[in-house]
Amino acid sequence: MKELKPVILCVDDEPQNLKLLQAILSPRGYEVLVAQNGFLALEILKNQNVDIVLLDVMMPGMDGYEVCRKIKEDETLRHIPVIMITALTAKEDRIRGIEAGTEEFLSKPFDVGEVLARINMLLRVKALNDKLRKAYSQIDNLTGFSEKLILSFEPMKFDFVSTIDVVVYQMLRQKEEVDKPEIVIAGINENKDWIIYRFLDSKMERNAIYGLSLKIEPLKDSVRGGFFNEGQELNADVETILRFLSKENIPVENMVYYLSDKLSLIALNYGRQVTGYDASVMHNIFLHILFMNSLSQQIKETEEAFVYTVYALARSAEANDEDTGNHILRIGEYAATIAEELRLPQLFIEKIKTQALLHDVGKVHVHPDILRKPGKLTAEEFEQMKKHTVLGAEIIGKHPRLKMASSIALHHHEKWDGSGYPYGLKEESIPLEARIVTIADIYDALRSQRPYKPAFDHEKAFRIITEGDGRSMPQHFDPQVLQAFKTVASKIEEIYEKNK
Ligand code: C2E
Ligand code: SIN
Ligand code: FE
Repeated sequence: MKELKPVILCVDDEPQNLKLLQAILSPRGYEVLVAQNGFLALEILKNQNVDIVLLDVMMPGMDGYEVCRKIKEDETLRHIPVIMITALTAKEDRIRGIEAGTEEFLSKPFDVGEVLARINMLLRVKALNDKLRKAYSQIDNLTGFSEKLILSFEPMKFDFVSTIDVVVYQMLRQKEEVDKPEIVIAGINENKDWIIYRFLDSKMERNAIYGLSLKIEPLKDSVRGGFFNEGQELNADVETILRFLSKENIPVENMVYYLSDKLSLIALNYGRQVTGYDASVMHNIFLHILFMNSLSQQIKETEEAFVYTVYALARSAEANDEDTGNHILRIGEYAATIAEELRLPQLFIEKIKTQALLHDVGKVHVHPDILRKPGKLTAEEFEQMKKHTVLGAEIIGKHPRLKMASSIALHHHEKWDGSGYPYGLKEESIPLEARIVTIADIYDALRSQRPYKPAFDHEKAFRIITEGDGRSMPQHFDPQVLQAFKTVASKIEEIYEKNK
């Protein structure tokens, strides 16, 4: 650890006095800076770290009171203690000095004992103040950082390991910095895989050690944290960690650790003594990550269950159809591919991919004899069949999460020119998601074998949709959606081939 000499700035217009102060202070381990007037003094203060200012009062240009006032008015300098140099007798001077904000006085002529005593006392006060200010700025950093983490939290996209990377990046000591750990070691996956992080040439190095388990028992449901400085007594956890680190040839001066069954962290070599405060800072940050991780896992699981349920419901409508297979899944893929080509928002694309699966769910209420009829439907049978749209929307209901599904079920047989069913809606009064699923649905029906029709190849299906065959006509489709379908036709064919 590097010991920094306290820096004392002496300001006096008399070179004699400066020499004298230097002679007293330099041999006693202080670094002495000198300035012969107030302007120079303020210049130095702005550019260098100074721990104490010894300030003469009577100086030409800017007197000591004014220099002192300027120091105390400056946000970045005000914490530096000022000692004013006055004649013993000058009571008035002292009062003015106090008003200007000086912390202490030194009497001329100097008494070496007094000079050193006053300086020592103020340095101690300043050290405490510095610590306090640092703690405040760390708390500021910490809250700012936690806030950023929380604000950018996206449960569906949250990734545990890369979040740890980001946080460790913030924690680690870089180039000029002091006070931060040189190495951070994270244990993930039940602490079987460890990652060693450190900065080398301004780049974060990230080395993984796999399958090296640090056995600290029992950890289930308990969190243990603490800190350790070289020379301090070892507890069982510290002992285990030190043994683990020595196997990896990692030297330890001091460390802060945090152990749990999901994630363990060890921060090493802060370049100063570590305290319980460092331990609680680390604990706090990682509690956030663990909490987000568990929240994100729960939300992802719920989302998976939701998609699964949608799929199960969609399948239930297929029971009466002979064909099926991956038919319903294909519809979602086609629709998502077309939506992507239309440059629709990601959220829309994800939604349509799942919710398109329910487009024909209303067929559960259509009589199997109609569904399985090998030949053409009578007008009456087709009237029955048309009801699958309204019935589907009824089955799906009104839940906001299934709004798109219900809109698709209801409107996927509407046609752009108004010749569709159930309502004969036209153009943009047909919801966009339904306009997309219409083409997806017809393409798949054409490619598939039905009790009433054979399967067609891609070229024939493509031709029927783009050129028309009397039953289907290009003017049935939203021109933009039709154009998108044409553009991605080869991808659509691929989806069919892959999911036959
Ligand atoms: P589906 O079999 O899934 O067909 C969905 C849509 O694909 C049809 O909607 C239609 O627009 C299109 N489509 C299917 N096959 C052909 C075809 O050979 N040529 C052309 N140009 N388009 C085709 P649509 O017509 O409203 O029919 C809705 C549902 O009614 C069909 O779903 C099917 O389950 C049933 N259906 C329609 N026509 C017949 C039929 O002649 N016999 C039987 N048994 N069922 C039919
Ligand atoms: C829109 O009309 O909302 C744009 C996309 C389309 O209709 O194809
Ligand atoms: Fe349908």
